[in-house]
Amino acid sequence: MDSELFTEERSAQVVAASFAAAPPRLREVLTSLVTHLHAFVKEVGLTGEEWERGIAFLTQTGHKCDDVRQEFILLSDVLGVSMLVETINHRAAGGSTESTVTGPFHVVESPPRALGDTIALDGNGEPCLVTGQVTGPDGEPLAGAEIDVWQASADGFYDVQQPGIQPERNLRGLFTADAGGRFWFTTIVPRYYPIPDDGPVGGLLKATGRHPYRPAHIHFLVTAPGHRLVTTHLFVADSPYIDSDAVFGVKDSLVRDFPLVDDPERAAAHGLASPFRTVHFDVALLPEGGDS
Ligand code: BEZ
Ligand code: FE
Repeated sequence: MDSELFTEERSAQVVAASFAAAPPRLREVLTSLVTHLHAFVKEVGLTGEEWERGIAFLTQTGHKCDDVRQEFILLSDVLGVSMLVETINHRAAGGSTESTVTGPFHVVESPPRALGDTIALDGNGEPCLVTGQVTGPDGEPLAGAEIDVWQASADGFYDVQQPGIQPERNLRGLFTADAGGRFWFTTIVPRYYPIPDDGPVGGLLKATGRHPYRPAHIHFLVTAPGHRLVTTHLFVADSPYIDSDAVFGVKDSLVRDFPLVDDPERAAAHGLASPFRTVHFDVALLPEGGDS
């Protein structure tokens, strides 16, 4: 007989050998997957019952998925795999802005808005002026960069979670930076919120004593011709859960204070009442084809 028979000791090698004819990258990935998976089963001495429970969990996870709900991505999120893939594929180099998970709420296109517009269509929440500049890694302004933003409300919900309650496209906007790469808009301070926790992933969090919350943040997707896009967040420094994000998305470089400013003249210039909160977020993009 050519191929080796399956034994406990050589289980991973035997299965890996079955991928000999696979295309090189597929073979590499599957061989590593099987090697780690078999090592895991051996290390914990997985029982038949535990194996069945795991299969049932994955089956429920699949059943929870539809066109708008992706429970497998949520599972990857709470296991830290989404952040790991994001981090190794977008290593911040040469002063570029760090990235973080996109999340499931970028499901509708953000409406183009003029610089200075508000994205808070229902006026609920603490007013906030957001300013920033998009540059290359050496600080050169990227005129015409596009800044796509979306965030949860003061109650911790995205517009798409509350149709009929929030106006459509509330707290979303697509801005084009000016000649100096600068952008500014008004909004409200977002609230922390739970990730969708009514499915098997929520069950996993409960079973392990974990909470489902993400600290307050504003999502940014920033692009400029000839540069790599960055998908990131701006986190509110004093938000609950800033040290225990359910999906491990917080990076130190993305956390900002949102100080309260009492300046009636500046407030009036931005259509706000004083006092208002402010935050400044500069975004640096790497040129396309640069390191990692
Ligand atoms: C979000 O920030 O929108 C998000 C990210 C991962 C899972 C759930 C929500
Ligand atoms: Fe979010």
